[in-house]
Amino acid sequence: MPKSIFVTGSSGLIGSEVCVFFGRAGFSVHGLDNNQRAVFFGSAGDTRWNQQRLETTLPEFTHHEMDIRDRPGVAALIARLKPDVIVHTAAQPSHDRAAAIPFDDFDTNAVGTLNLLEAARQACPESPFIHMSTNKVYGDAPNRIALNELETRWEYADPAYAHGIPETFTIDQSTHSLFGASKVASDVLVQEYGRYFQMPTCSLRGGCLTGPNHSGVELHGFLSYLVKCNLEDRTYTLFGYKGKQVRDNIHSLDVARFMYEFYAAPRCGEVYNIGGGKDNSCSVLEAFRLAQKWSGRPMHYTYVEQNRIGDHICYYSDLRKMRAHYPKWDITRTLDQTVQEIVEAWQQRTAAGRG
Ligand SMILES: NC(=O)c1ccc[n+]([C@@H]2O[C@H](COP(=O)([O-])OP(=O)(O)OC[C@H]3O[C@@H](n4cnc5c(N)ncnc54)[C@H](O)[C@@H]3O)[C@@H](O)[C@H]2O)c1
Repeated sequence: MPKSIFVTGSSGLIGSEVCVFFGRAGFSVHGLDNNQRAVFFGSAGDTRWNQQRLETTLPEFTHHEMDIRDRPGVAALIARLKPDVIVHTAAQPSHDRAAAIPFDDFDTNAVGTLNLLEAARQACPESPFIHMSTNKVYGDAPNRIALNELETRWEYADPAYAHGIPETFTIDQSTHSLFGASKVASDVLVQEYGRYFQMPTCSLRGGCLTGPNHSGVELHGFLSYLVKCNLEDRTYTLFGYKGKQVRDNIHSLDVARFMYEFYAAPRCGEVYNIGGGKDNSCSVLEAFRLAQKWSGRPMHYTYVEQNRIGDHICYYSDLRKMRAHYPKWDITRTLDQTVQEIVEAWQQRTAAGRG
């Protein structure tokens, strides 16, 4: 019998990458998704095309149409599958969107995660449970770090953060957005199932996760949406901080690779900051240059003085804990390569009528 993996949010950016990665590693792959991204963001967020891609190209893949808020349904499915590993990526992923749909946000992100954890505890407590959390659990506390203003970006002035934000950074007493708050709940629940029940769980606090299979929209999917605007000659709106706000970008493949390392040598109740790190960080202005470089088209943008509530001015992940715990893992895709891939993917999807 091949090993099996259960992936929630399997039609999304990270979920689909994980399905392909583990499928190619010989796993039988069970994906759960209900295209909720289209409900959250409208047709531009539709992920059915990605579900169809998996169904037509990955023989090991089985799709399960279900909402993670369906507690009895989730419990019955996990009890039947008893997967060898669970990767949980389904979420309401936008901090701005959460304010308009607070119950949907919390029920999905916090309660949905609890549904999965408890189902896993009942059916397969030995199986690693890997949860996609977010750097928004730190709220806007990173904005208190002293910064230097450089020509095209902000940069930490405090040498304590020369490697980026570590996992020991406070998650308390700052503005998170409702999305950040619901993700804190899920992040801490995942840790608790590890510490209290000794289950092999981890929360991965993502920086900007990106890659060619994102259905980027203005409210979520930074590089994917930025490249799409560039290719379609649409005007991108910069919100505050002079456009110099810094994000660290990690290719979805490198996220999947880390999840595999955790599956192979799991720990209980761990937390990792997973992003591109300093080397793969860029400001929005710097991202414009990269998009222009690979598309050959000018970037059109407008500037709005008001920043997004709770938005980080400068954030990049300190990757040293990940590298220390899992020395075989490292970043394999540069930011430059990743932007090139995203440009090419949007061009292909547009040509195929899936843009
Ligand atoms: N993309 C980023 O920059 C980023 C950054 C930090 C953290 N994260 C986290 O990583 C995870 C994956 O992000 P992504 O970019 O792949 O998101 P995504 O929106 O591309 O994928 C999530 C998938 O989950 C599905 N989904 C949502 N709610 C559901 C529900 N109630 N039931 C079943 N399916 C549901 C959606 O339809 C979608 O296909 C999320 O937890 C997100 O919060 C993402």
